[in-house]
Amino acid sequence: MSDTTAHLKANSQDIEFPILKGTYGNPVIDITTLGKQGFYTIDPGFLATASCESKITFIDGGKGILLYRGYPIEQLAEDACFLEICYLLLHGELPNTQQYEKFTNTICQHMPIPKEIHCVLNAFKKDAHPMAMLMSLISALAGYYHGKMDINNPDDRLEAAYHLIAKIPTLAAMCYKHSCGEEIVLPQPELGYAENFMHMLQSTPHRNNNIKPVLAKAFDRIFTLHADHEQNASTSTVRLAGSTGTDPFASIVAGVAALWGPAHGGANEAALNMMREIGDESHINEYVDKAKDKNDPFRLMGFGHRVYKNYDPRAKVMRATCHEVLDEQGCHDDPLFKIALKLEKIALEDQYFIDKKLYPNVDFYSGITLNALGIPPNMFTVLFALARTVGWIAHWHEMLGSKDFRIGRPRQLYTGSAKRDFVKMADRK
Ligand code: ACO
Repeated sequence: MSDTTAHLKANSQDIEFPILKGTYGNPVIDITTLGKQGFYTIDPGFLATASCESKITFIDGGKGILLYRGYPIEQLAEDACFLEICYLLLHGELPNTQQYEKFTNTICQHMPIPKEIHCVLNAFKKDAHPMAMLMSLISALAGYYHGKMDINNPDDRLEAAYHLIAKIPTLAAMCYKHSCGEEIVLPQPELGYAENFMHMLQSTPHRNNNIKPVLAKAFDRIFTLHADHEQNASTSTVRLAGSTGTDPFASIVAGVAALWGPAHGGANEAALNMMREIGDESHINEYVDKAKDKNDPFRLMGFGHRVYKNYDPRAKVMRATCHEVLDEQGCHDDPLFKIALKLEKIALEDQYFIDKKLYPNVDFYSGITLNALGIPPNMFTVLFALARTVGWIAHWHEMLGSKDFRIGRPRQLYTGSAKRDFVKMADRK
């Protein structure tokens, strides 16, 4: 038996499968031929199933490593700006100076939102959730651009990516302004990507808000940290929707919908609420005990991760960013941040959390940071969607260009009724 093949004995058949090895990560048994042998596999929640081959992002959850195209997230968050990250995720390499200038110009040219799209917001009450507004605005883009791009043409796919990366900050800011009952502020492409977003949030059509560089850097970092995370629920949703050949904007709407769920994009809001509920450092031990109590459903929000069984590398960067933002905003004594630091220390020294390999995840500090940046909690997931759009569209582009591309169509284990004859209503009991 070779270590490049796996063998399955089933119903006295001996079936052989190739074992594929990637650059890093667990080897993968290629079972694509199993269906022809009369068997399927089942793996609810995809605990041990790779849905695709990808060259974009790698996570080593045991070691706490996250790489975008091979580059460690810590280095990218420190030295690269978000638009460099967008280029890297889409094209596979970091841009040189000319490539970067050309790319930023292209993004600036794609920023304007067609007038018709603005009207969509009027259908929403101000207190509607901004994620619902965001999905409708992106759907409206699908309506506007559908048929103008050939998804089998790589240049057209990149064109769709440019539209999305360029327009998503404006759409997010439009949702925010509509919720506040304020007039929409148009983009100023000559500003940096994060600065422009802050401008659209904080300025009015008649008064430009002063943008603090430290805060703009914090937004840029938050976008970088959330730009991609390999085959998570929303990215897998974008891939599955896109595999039908549907419109690129429609595929992204599917991703936004998946992200909205509290188990995915909503955890930072829950972490912020938990810090507020704890309220004082003297109550921390009580909450840690609650989290450890098997009979209590309470969990420490922002702690633990399906993939990371070590410190989430994004959480370390987020903690430093949180420090910088609070200092800049003159609230270094922020009680929520103090609670977070002490809670983290207590939990990391507690045997329960050590044994279960539970560490802070990116959401532990991002809620406090966004709060200090003046972002209301119902906008947290919208900002996540803004940042993740590049990851989603990079995966969509990679999938459509792949030689193995085909519609995603899982099988099932059917456990319903056996075949039976129809009974007319009058004859039913
Ligand atoms: N607090 C207390 N105990 C926890 C926590 C926590 N935050 N997380 C996991 N555990 C315990 C569980 O009770 C379980 O204990 P048991 O083995 O005695 O039953 C064990 O650790 C394993 O937990 P699972 O839920 O099986 O782990 P899973 O990998 O499925 O879940 C998850 C990961 C959902 C993130 C979980 O750690 C959690 O609920 N964390 C809090 C919510 C959160 O922060 N979510 C954000 C994730 S990051 C993101 O999506 C961007």
